[in-house]
Amino acid sequence: MNEAEREAVARDILRLKRDRRAVILAHNYQRPEVQDIADYVGDSLGLSRQAAATDRPVIVFCGVHFMAETAATLCPDRIVLLPDLKAGCPMADMITADQLREEKAAHPGAAVVAYVNTTAEVKALSDVCCTSANAVRVLRSIEPGREIIFVPDKNLAAYASAQAGRPVIPWPGFCPTHHHWITQEAVARARREHPEALVVVHPECNPEVVAMADHVASTTGMVRYARESPARQFIIGTEEGLLHQLRKACPDKAFYPAAPHPGMICPNMKTITLRKVRHALETLQPQVTVPEPVRTRALAAIQRMLELGS
Ligand code: 13P
Ligand code: SF4
Repeated sequence: MNEAEREAVARDILRLKRDRRAVILAHNYQRPEVQDIADYVGDSLGLSRQAAATDRPVIVFCGVHFMAETAATLCPDRIVLLPDLKAGCPMADMITADQLREEKAAHPGAAVVAYVNTTAEVKALSDVCCTSANAVRVLRSIEPGREIIFVPDKNLAAYASAQAGRPVIPWPGFCPTHHHWITQEAVARARREHPEALVVVHPECNPEVVAMADHVASTTGMVRYARESPARQFIIGTEEGLLHQLRKACPDKAFYPAAPHPGMICPNMKTITLRKVRHALETLQPQVTVPEPVRTRALAAIQRMLELGS
């Protein structure tokens, strides 16, 4: 799409958004042009809070399926649109409800902490959800001495467990983009190329990479850190879409990807395009819904997380 076409589609989206009284929520990994038409761009926690707080009848969720499902869980009376239903999360698919049932049976009495990167069925079997922004706080909220099953991200489990000082039983899931592409070697190379830069990574990176970092944070936490830090250069260890928000927030600072293009791309996040957003607003499809008994149980786990703050 050339610049003129992009502007025309963006204009259509803004008109349709007004007509539908819709709110557009976008994750930090979305394509830059999608981020730019959103009412709110943020991390998983911020997006859940926005969904919970909106009074609009239609929510267009520019992100992946579990994020739209979380919005539908929080807002059953709203229409939640995911412009492409193929936008999944491979990590969320690494644990099923049946697998979690078996894990719980193997550890009776354990609390289950579910990263929001899970299906609603898995959330419904969990005590409390967490995101990368509040995993440490959530672990600390579990009564001392109780066993904790943490699903599905083994890397976030290792990071949050060490920070909170709470042992956990991790599930062996991971994010392919963070785990396979942001390697120790890649970060070491970026550091050699930019010796003045601070290394900031997402906790979905593997523990060896996390150990090399100057700062570990959620995507919105990374933007906050870059804004508040006196440093001028940063090596960024997360999906490339965040570079757009970082450069907007700090136009006078330099941001370098921790691994070469196209490694740090989540293909699922990139399936959402401006044209698909326009189509979703025109047709009010595709919608994401969560069946009622699952929704109420998943809601309890999400609400417990939201009540704990970030
Ligand atoms: P954040 O909640 O930090 O934005 O992370 C979401 C995600 O999917 C990371 O891969
Ligand atoms: Fe899932 Fe990884 Fe994509 Fe995040 S970046 S949505 S964890 S696959």
